[in-house]
Amino acid sequence: MGTAVGSWRPAMLAWVLVLVLLAGAGALENGLARTPTMGWLHWERFMCTTDCAREPLSCVSEQLFMQMADLMVSDGWKDVGYEYVCIDDCWMSLTRDDQDRLQPDPERFPSGIRKLADYVHSKGLKLGIYGDVGNKTCAGFPGSYGYYDLDAQTFANWGVDLLKFDGCNYGTQDQLAEGYRNMSLALNKTGRSIVYSCEWPLYMRPMQKPNYTEIKHYCNHWRNFADIYDAWNSVKNTLEWTALHQDSIVDVAGPGGWNDPDMLVIGNFGLSWDQQVTQMALWAIMAAPLLMSNDLRHISPQAKWLLQNKDVIAINQDPLGKQGYCITKDNNFELWERPLSRGSYAVAVMNRQEIGGPRIFSFSTSFLGNGLACNPACSIQQILPTSEDWGLHDWVSFLNTEVNPTGTVLLKVVVIGESPAEKPVMNINKKPSPDIL
Ligand code: GLA
Repeated sequence: MGTAVGSWRPAMLAWVLVLVLLAGAGALENGLARTPTMGWLHWERFMCTTDCAREPLSCVSEQLFMQMADLMVSDGWKDVGYEYVCIDDCWMSLTRDDQDRLQPDPERFPSGIRKLADYVHSKGLKLGIYGDVGNKTCAGFPGSYGYYDLDAQTFANWGVDLLKFDGCNYGTQDQLAEGYRNMSLALNKTGRSIVYSCEWPLYMRPMQKPNYTEIKHYCNHWRNFADIYDAWNSVKNTLEWTALHQDSIVDVAGPGGWNDPDMLVIGNFGLSWDQQVTQMALWAIMAAPLLMSNDLRHISPQAKWLLQNKDVIAINQDPLGKQGYCITKDNNFELWERPLSRGSYAVAVMNRQEIGGPRIFSFSTSFLGNGLACNPACSIQQILPTSEDWGLHDWVSFLNTEVNPTGTVLLKVVVIGESPAEKPVMNINKKPSPDIL
């Protein structure tokens, strides 16, 4: 009897542990970011432009955020899910007020952040703000070190809904970690729902391997890699870094906590059309926060179509909340997949070659989802660069797809079960016609 109980207990404990892990305990359980955050963030496009006399339309001011909030509603961004209007660095005064509170620059934010938050909320949107774990922000404005509780409370009093917390000037590694933990606890203590966006692993990695289980316990999303620029090299490097580190970052992502490869720069100046398609497709595969940094007052219909594409957004926001990964690199192609709910998969084929023209990549459906994505059969929908029905396939179908240099073809593979009602009429070896691309 004694032996039986003794052997039962560890087994039971192991099960409890498995169940706890499956339930996602360990994530920051503030109920937020159950799917990746969607919105707009000023940094990449507007940076630290503070001279409003010289550049009235692009300076970091309440005007800019009100205009973006207006457009997010009037131009359909809110309808497809973009929700957070986020302020980055350079919103502050250089000094705290007489009660040590952070205050906005009085020239550029004359109405104050509370009023701005009210305005954004009146549009059915949410407001994000920026702070720094150290003594100063990256642009030299006051940091939150020594003021975590006060600053969290100030943000909550203003009605802020998201905090991007940067890691410049953090001091020691211990102060960096303590700071990120303490601000998370401070935000929690305010009782207000505030998404907590961290850069903890980015600043930690040069000294120490980040502990992602811990980071997810405190943050809703976290930056791992360098700032994104409006350039293919930057998008390419971000993807390369992600594929290289996928074994340590993919599994931790899930409802409540996401890897953040930084802003979408679609709609700006530096990326070709194919490169913009690649960014959108891969940010969906990576379950990345979709924070656009562009000028919604001047955006091409094409970029708008891409950013507002409901099929891509549905992949990004898939409720299963699993991050995708690169399955294979071959002949300068990369094949990525992301498991979706109900056994479906998103699949991206990227052509990394920067010389020549469109090239054909051939692969078997048996490559996908460990052989399960199309087993026994599936229907395949091409989502990007254009929407196209690839029809029904079985688990050994061979697919050919033509991809432009630095472009990506994004597919959704929907598995079809074996029940007689669902039995498909097979379309084996269907080759999509190249003229769809
Ligand atoms: C760092 C961050 C950027 C941006 C700037 C602002 O570089 O990584 O995303 O917030 O600071 O100064």
